[in-house]
Amino acid sequence: MCGIVGYIGSKQAAPLIVSGLKRLEYRGYDSAGICCIAPDGLTIAKKAGRVVDLERAVDLHTLEGTVGVGHTRWATHGVPSDENAHPHTDHSGTIALVHNGIIENYLTIKKKLANAGYTFKSDTDSEVLAVFIGMLYETLHDLELSVRTALAEVEGTFGIVVLSTHEPDVVIAARRGSPLILGIGNGEYLVASDASAVISHTRQVVYLQENEMAILRRDGFSTKTIENVDTRSVVEEIAFELAQIERGGFEHFMLKEIFEQPITFRDGFRGRLRVEDGTVRLGGLASVAEKLRQAKRIIITACGTSWHAGLVGEYLIESLARVPVEVEYASEFRYRNPIISPDDVVIAISQSGETADTLAAIREAKLKGATVIGMVNVVGSTIARETDAGVYLHAGPEIGVASTKAFTSQLCVLTQFALYLGRMRALSAEQGMAIAEELVNIPEHITRILDNVEPIKAIAKKYSGASNFLYLGRGVNFPAALEGALKLKEISYIHAEGYPAAEMKHGPIALIDENMPVVFIAPKDEIYDKVRSNIEEVRARNGRVIAIADEDDDRIADVATHVIRIPRTLPMLTPILASIPLQLLAYFIAVERGCNVDMPRNLAKSVTVE
Ligand code: G6P
Repeated sequence: MCGIVGYIGSKQAAPLIVSGLKRLEYRGYDSAGICCIAPDGLTIAKKAGRVVDLERAVDLHTLEGTVGVGHTRWATHGVPSDENAHPHTDHSGTIALVHNGIIENYLTIKKKLANAGYTFKSDTDSEVLAVFIGMLYETLHDLELSVRTALAEVEGTFGIVVLSTHEPDVVIAARRGSPLILGIGNGEYLVASDASAVISHTRQVVYLQENEMAILRRDGFSTKTIENVDTRSVVEEIAFELAQIERGGFEHFMLKEIFEQPITFRDGFRGRLRVEDGTVRLGGLASVAEKLRQAKRIIITACGTSWHAGLVGEYLIESLARVPVEVEYASEFRYRNPIISPDDVVIAISQSGETADTLAAIREAKLKGATVIGMVNVVGSTIARETDAGVYLHAGPEIGVASTKAFTSQLCVLTQFALYLGRMRALSAEQGMAIAEELVNIPEHITRILDNVEPIKAIAKKYSGASNFLYLGRGVNFPAALEGALKLKEISYIHAEGYPAAEMKHGPIALIDENMPVVFIAPKDEIYDKVRSNIEEVRARNGRVIAIADEDDDRIADVATHVIRIPRTLPMLTPILASIPLQLLAYFIAVERGCNVDMPRNLAKSVTVE
């Protein structure tokens, strides 16, 4: 999604902003721009395409000024073009604005401005806000007041940064629904949509709260609500290291993150899992433990990969804790007036902690009296702050747009949550210990898969030209199949579908011929023979079968065209191990096809608009 980096201090702003924008590239964007306050007015450079395209078009070192702001835009209103790129200016060209989010009533405001004679250069909702602030400034002659007055009329979401030649020593930032972070330096301040853009300058940050604005000057900053009530800000330390957001010798962030999984998975249970009595200590849930013990129903809400983790979670929680679970797309949940009672516990799963739909879903659930728990990766993110209690994933920053390590960490946390809840209810110590013991073995199992990627690479090479893929699994491995298909389509642009294996005969079987690779997740669990029959059905129609199977399964090669081996684990933990080869398969196919793995077209890492 869109990214923001602003600076005020004593250094030249442009190089600093450009390096910050590059740190935000992973979020997904289609145009970039920058504006600095030079002695003779605003200098602006913006361009459709990547930050390097902007650098090629304009010598950014010629952009003079110690105050500036940059933006990477992910198009919502209007195509990616030079005109639609941010920063946008007001009619007089003296006020510049960058904006993340969506101004929902921009057409109403635009009409009002047009009737008053103002004109527009772009198709964006953001320019309307810039022009609106400019119009207000003509009578108010105060930048902060003009911003506040404009925002009072705005409906929708925004993270904005505004600067002006009228007040060249001030940067104004405000947020509602789109995150902003202030970087506190020595005689200098940064404002960014993501901590990764400021970490090479400072580790001291202030997370701007909902409806809060910040006024930054070289010698200090203040925060207040958009309604002009002073607020107290807390300076916090960024919770990750710079090295964690660098590629560290890997060709892509995605590959680095796939290979980090033995460590990130272990980080997810370290200090939590108590193997000796088959329980889990989840400090972040202590305040809601009683609610959880009494919960009549659990609703999991999430989007994308996190939603797939939720489906695995449903299986885990229902089988270990015997509490009914419903899993809802956050985007659907929020609009269907869900029936929620105070005995319900809602779990929001999110890597970024900023997904607009998930955030809206938890607000709806809270409004209706449910206890809301977050399972979030990004520390200090909005969802982490707005939930009643939570468990962090501890996967570290995930940069690759296609989520990998966050998914396995979500499964790690969900397994522990199911165990925690189960042990509060009917699960015996013995059953709990068996699961806890095997959870501890998972990092070692993942390492063994990662030690043998060549067969997966060879399969990827063979099928990289396919136009369609089918992914099939049953029970807890059905969501793993969905996630495998999602990975492939996200980064290779091959159409892929996930299905419950037995459901194949009710439709998708019509697609099967010699050109159709079908990936089966086929561990030796209680439905192994049924899955084998499904494999036979595909082979009988000449389909090509890639089976993810246990390493000691000596019968699978009789029916599958290719076999990828995974270590034997408890059936309920198979999705964790199965997802590793599925991530690698998608990765190698995408590389083979020459795709931009870390920044796939049209996708965004963190979707902060509806
Ligand atoms: C975007 C990302 C997906 C992610 C989804 C949910 O679509 O591209 O990879 O799964 O958002 O994001 P969240 O941060 O809430 O897990």
